[in-house]
Amino acid sequence: MAAPFNREPALLNFDFYNPTQILFGKGQIAAITPLIPAGARVMMLYGGGSIKRNGVYDEVKAALGGHAVVEFPGIEPNPQYETLMKAVEIVKAERIDFLLAVGGGSVIDGTKFIAAAALFGDADPWLILEKGGRNIAAALPFGSVLTLPATGSEMNSASVITRAATQEKRPFANRLVFPKFSVLDPSTTFTLPLRQVGNGVVDAFVHVMEQYMTHPVNAPVQDRWAEGLLLTLIEEGPKTLSEPDNLDVRANIMWTATMALNGVIGVGVPQDWSTHMIGHELTALYHLDHAQTLAVVLPGMLTVRREAKRAKLLQYAARVWGLVEGDEDGRIDAAIERTRAFFEQMGVKTRLSGYGLDAGAIDAVVNRLEAHKLVKLGEHRDVDAAASRAALQLSL
Ligand code: NZQ
Ligand code: ZN
Repeated sequence: MAAPFNREPALLNFDFYNPTQILFGKGQIAAITPLIPAGARVMMLYGGGSIKRNGVYDEVKAALGGHAVVEFPGIEPNPQYETLMKAVEIVKAERIDFLLAVGGGSVIDGTKFIAAAALFGDADPWLILEKGGRNIAAALPFGSVLTLPATGSEMNSASVITRAATQEKRPFANRLVFPKFSVLDPSTTFTLPLRQVGNGVVDAFVHVMEQYMTHPVNAPVQDRWAEGLLLTLIEEGPKTLSEPDNLDVRANIMWTATMALNGVIGVGVPQDWSTHMIGHELTALYHLDHAQTLAVVLPGMLTVRREAKRAKLLQYAARVWGLVEGDEDGRIDAAIERTRAFFEQMGVKTRLSGYGLDAGAIDAVVNRLEAHKLVKLGEHRDVDAAASRAALQLSL
């Protein structure tokens, strides 16, 4: 008789928490006014000025009309610790008690760090990155107005911060840094440069893949949600390029990117963030956009890890790309090729040479992975330095 606990892999236990209120749709910026505590002293944070050119700045200022507001512009893509620490000083000096991030993932991520660093006491705030956020005991409340669908930062508790001085790019996460609310108004995305539109679609796609493309654990709900998001990106993504003025397309892309990394599809399933961790090193060293690094790493990584991921690769080939004919390896190869072609279709190059990099960059990235002890990546913790090197070599 079979032992009662000798079962097929099953859904893992989970503890799901997501408190972020979402205000979705055109005109929703005005709805934030009552969500910010009366009497709060607000810091409004933004990037290099895109919000001043597309009217978002004016809408936000109008919504904040009844509050004392200090502005902090200049949060750069791949937000820098050095810049953010300047904001922390102002938050303390001005006794700010609510933050409002207005922009893309970089502004929101930067705001999460400021929220935690402002209440970190006398300790060195870089320790937040060194401990991955586990040492955060308090954070200022904050909201966001999203202008670039990509990262999911608007509805998650993660953030990625770069230290320019040491060329380090490191993530942290903590339940205390979920936004209180986020506005997702798709009309704010009409002014995005095509490069950022493509980046956003690729980033969201890879977020789904990092949570889906592992091994089956009898999680049909998560699998079908993930496949639904991938199919939506494949159908709607190219339309953002061919029909840039279509609000429905923008709306669906925006909601897809949020759903891709708000925790829902990742509950109870193994996850593999190796493509992201390798990508962070590429950005830190060579300043590629975040999504560009993912487009380079993922196809090679899927090829290198095809045995561990075989069952899911075949499922992906069939359900997402409709590849059901031919032998297994042929279907897997075709699915990986389709993935690469989709990224290229979105205008994101998938080869290091496309960014002017050669084999020397692979050596440098692998050295960094070793220095940062990122040599046990993946759902089985078997993506070592050699596997990362092999994945990158397939995308030279
Ligand atoms: O700075 P401004 O002038 O606003 O311009 C930005 C920036 O130059 C521009 N932009 C944003 N919205 C616009 C616009 N331009 C015109 N119209 C608009 N509506 O786009 C440029 C890129 O912005 P950025 O915020 O850097 O892009 P994204 O949202 O892709 O964020 C990337 C950052 O997020 C991190 C990445 O590592 C990277 O640092 N990630 C955060 C994650 C998270 N918190 O969960 C997960 C992701 O995997 C990712 O790692
Ligand atoms: Zn990402």
